Amino acid sequence: MILSQIVAFSENKAIGCDNKLLWHFSEDLKYFKEKTSGKILIMGRKTFDSLGKPLPKRFHIVISRTQKKSDFENVIYVQTISEAYSAAEKLIEQNLWPKEVMICGGAEIYKQTVNDCHFLFLTRIPGHFIADAFYDFDFAINFTKTHSTKSETVPDLIYEIWSKNHKVS
Ligand SMILES: NC(=O)c1ccc[n+]([C@@H]2O[C@H](COP(=O)([O-])OP(=O)(O)OC[C@H]3O[C@@H](n4cnc5c(N)ncnc54)[C@H](OP(=O)(O)O)[C@@H]3O)[C@@H](O)[C@H]2O)c1
Repeated sequence: MILSQIVAFSENKAIGCDNKLLWHFSEDLKYFKEKTSGKILIMGRKTFDSLGKPLPKRFHIVISRTQKKSDFENVIYVQTISEAYSAAEKLIEQNLWPKEVMICGGAEIYKQTVNDCHFLFLTRIPGHFIADAFYDFDFAINFTKTHSTKSETVPDLIYEIWSKNHKVS
């Protein structure tokens, strides 16, 4: 399994408020769709609730201590992060889904999974936003920026890919 986080955050590291996103950039939504389509997604219960329904052509593993049963196809609930990883591994072993697994938030889940990830797909949103959810940890200690692409439609919006540093022993 190759684990990646995908997240859009502002200059003050805001990602959401009142369980909603803080901006709407169709180019970034297209980027999210392109990077996640056909893949397994892992997310927190609040982020899944904020979607309202599953995203097409993706399998959702939702982490929750309280919810257990899903009414939707392509959605399962698990109670721990390690159960989420095991469920993803099982689906990959059965050749049902590819080995690239995307962690899609929110703040609680990003923070608890960052050290397990191989790649971070970061969208840098210009500006400062009032928020209650943040991407607020120092990922630069363990990751190195390997790609940076400027938006074609939004001034100062940048797409970055960071890769996990290899440990030298
Ligand atoms: N900008 C972006 O790229 C982006 C992406 C995704 C989300 N967001 C935003 O982020 C915000 C949501 O983030 P959030 O931090 O509030 O919520 P979250 O991470 O989506 O979900 C938190 C929930 O996940 C479950 N959980 C967390 N850690 C767990 C663990 N170790 N074991 C079992 N369950 C665990 C709990 O569910 P239960 O309460 O059910 O037990 C917890 O309440 C929203 O505003 C959303 O719009 C932004």
